[in-house]
Amino acid sequence: MIDVFGLSHKDSGPISVTTGAERNASATDSPIGSPTRRGPRHEQVVFCSDERSGLYAIIAVYSTALGPALGGTRFYPYESEQAALADVLNLSRAMAYKNALAGLDLGGGKAVIIGDPSADKSEALLRAYGRFVESLGGRYYTACDVGTYSEDMDVVARESSYVTGRTPAHGGAGDSSILTAFGVFQGMRAAADHTFGTPTLRGRRVGVEGVGKVGRRLVDHLIEDGAEVVVCDVDEHAVDLVRRRHPSVDVVADNAALIASDIDVYAPCALGGALNEATVPLLRARIVCGGANNQLADAGVGKLLVERGILYAPDYVVNSGGVIQVADEIEGFNMERARARAAQIFDTTAKIFALAAADGVPPATAADRLAERRMSEVGRLRGIWLRR
Ligand SMILES: NC(=O)c1ccc[n+]([C@@H]2O[C@H](COP(=O)([O-])OP(=O)(O)OC[C@H]3O[C@@H](n4cnc5c(N)ncnc54)[C@H](O)[C@@H]3O)[C@@H](O)[C@H]2O)c1
Repeated sequence: MIDVFGLSHKDSGPISVTTGAERNASATDSPIGSPTRRGPRHEQVVFCSDERSGLYAIIAVYSTALGPALGGTRFYPYESEQAALADVLNLSRAMAYKNALAGLDLGGGKAVIIGDPSADKSEALLRAYGRFVESLGGRYYTACDVGTYSEDMDVVARESSYVTGRTPAHGGAGDSSILTAFGVFQGMRAAADHTFGTPTLRGRRVGVEGVGKVGRRLVDHLIEDGAEVVVCDVDEHAVDLVRRRHPSVDVVADNAALIASDIDVYAPCALGGALNEATVPLLRARIVCGGANNQLADAGVGKLLVERGILYAPDYVVNSGGVIQVADEIEGFNMERARARAAQIFDTTAKIFALAAADGVPPATAADRLAERRMSEVGRLRGIWLRR
């Protein structure tokens, strides 16, 4: 294992490493591992260290084929540098696919800061991080993720121009769950159209697992559309909030009860891995469409869903409203423009279902193919020389 930060020997000085585009950077390997091994290849992985402020960060740029890489900064107490590296490599790759299918002129990147945000976050640390973001000269735009908030982005932005997801006071878009939920609803309408022949959830029973920021707003859209809604959440307060707003909403004890209940649509909006070999056989819904990231525990689960005749709307496609919202900030935020782009998630999801049927593959595979096609076809155009 590499130990760039020398986390186990704190006396070593700060080191910054940039890998070459041809190096192997699979999630299980060191990005500076053998270039002969096959696997996803990241353009650039940068290790950033500032010992005095306690900053230990990794910025991963998977692809800039479509434009500067955009992805949030996760501030998390990883058990090891290797775990942080694996996470940032996976997340940055996923952002490239998400941004490509969201129709953005942005590539995929992500950053992780190793540490406990409640104990280790400070102005100096965030500003040190901002200087490393700036040092990439615009190849990477950062934003919020787990453990970082718009207020933190305002601090990072004091050192870098390449920051989005900022507070409304600084021209930011505010809470990204607004368009995330709207996009999930658009994807669900496309799935309803494909399955039931009509692009509405009216009269359907939808089970929403997790009614936090995204799930709660999704319930608003569903009720407005005339759906019956049943929810579950481990947090009673979150359930109370929804019930106060919509007394007609049913509540079940937990996700096992929700999955086994008589629902038409299952909307995972809590944690990843909701769909696995244990849950899929019990699922009664005909559609899965929700906001949570990484819903499939592994690629085999996508095939299992197909075998059971359950239509899966790929998570990174339907939950891209949030990144559309923060990406819009780069132009100067306009909610109507961002909402119009997020509305296109309906068409993109429908296109994925059509491609999946034509190619005889699960929708998740079709989504990856479409994303790769756009990265290749549009990215290729940079080969046409222009004077800049
Ligand atoms: N917020 C965004 O803009 C955005 C964008 C893209 C993807 N996502 C993804 O959507 C999901 C939800 O995000 P959020 O911003 O609403 O987070 P959140 O923390 O506001 O809400 C998550 C909710 O899930 C509940 N929960 C946790 N474990 C549960 C369980 N086992 N069963 C039922 N409920 C459970 C929590 O109590 C909470 O109410 C996450 O996977 C997130 O990565 C969010």
